[in-house]
Amino acid sequence: MNAWADRFRELFPVTKNWIYFNHAATAPYCSLTAEALSRYIEDFEQNGGVNYQEWEKIREETRVLAGRLIQSEPEEVALTANTSEGANIVAQGLDWKSGDNVVLPAQEFPANVFPWLNLRQKGVEPRIVPLSAGRLEVEDILGRVDGRTRVVAVSSVAFHNGHRLDLKTLGRELHARGVPLYVDAIQSLGYIPMDVKRCHISFLSADGHKWLLAPEGAALFFCAADMLERLDQAYLSWLSVREPFRFDDPRLELAPGARRFECGTPNVAGTVGLHASLKFLLDAGIERIEERVLQIVEAAAEGLAAKGYRILSPREEGERSGILTFDHPDHSAESLRDRLKDGGVVSTLRGGGVRISPHFYNNEEEIEQFLDILP
Ligand SMILES: Cc1ncc(COP(=O)(O)O)c(C=O)c1O
Repeated sequence: MNAWADRFRELFPVTKNWIYFNHAATAPYCSLTAEALSRYIEDFEQNGGVNYQEWEKIREETRVLAGRLIQSEPEEVALTANTSEGANIVAQGLDWKSGDNVVLPAQEFPANVFPWLNLRQKGVEPRIVPLSAGRLEVEDILGRVDGRTRVVAVSSVAFHNGHRLDLKTLGRELHARGVPLYVDAIQSLGYIPMDVKRCHISFLSADGHKWLLAPEGAALFFCAADMLERLDQAYLSWLSVREPFRFDDPRLELAPGARRFECGTPNVAGTVGLHASLKFLLDAGIERIEERVLQIVEAAAEGLAAKGYRILSPREEGERSGILTFDHPDHSAESLRDRLKDGGVVSTLRGGGVRISPHFYNNEEEIEQFLDILP
């Protein structure tokens, strides 16, 4: 029980249908987000684009909220289509020379692999950092960085086992070496505080559909102000310019901020959902959300260990997250996942085991039911 977190439970109708422990995959909407989306859909059903400018304002407000979430200026935020788009803006935007390299961890989600492997055709060497005992160590990353490293690309939290990277140390060390840092933050934004300035992050990308509790295809991309002019644009179109609605102006004057990476007609519906979710999470308080998520995951880890399950996620102080992966010597991960689903618990298979990822509105009662269902 947690009186603070329990207040939010009624905003999650999913709790009536499922014990939903799968926010690292695709999250359910909270009622406030669903209501905002319904208002948008109804307005377009009844009025078409008559009120378009009102909805456009929501986009600018979303930029402000995203800036608050990651401690950046709103002008440093572009609203993009997904995490991969942000990675590609960086991969295709940097000025590569044959023989340059990009450093990235092993076992990354492909959205933080393929955009970099795609650079091999330009003579760029991908340098893969192996994990040690499931952990990505900062020294191992730094050991592969040299004078030809143009960017280091990491995830804030590993999707397979939930290991949380020490971004502050990594950012500080890379900053001292003059190497930009790209962060795929989809597995941490929404429940782990982010401060792009303190972590010396140059670029960050995350879609809304996981811990941010927002629709799919509504993402944010951060480009630090001092990196803006260092990125060429592989894609550029009418919305990338300073005054997009001066259709007869032949000059190509780019928008002053990260908005220049938004090419054409945006996903307004997705942004409306992202806006409502960001507002909800920021109002609730990311620090308190983190504390609660870690509490619930700890209860699961303790209960699982007591029942003879093996925890595959690193569990030292500072490296825990909302993701917990586990297995059992006598039961296949598939059979455990299916048994959980039959009992009303949504989990998935990742990292060689069953992965659970509860959010702050989940509770200990649900953890107990989850433990009871497991053999
Ligand atoms: C670490 C990580 N990055 C990215 C994604 C998704 O990428 P995108 O938003 O481009 O679909 C996922 C999960 O789907 C993920 O776990």
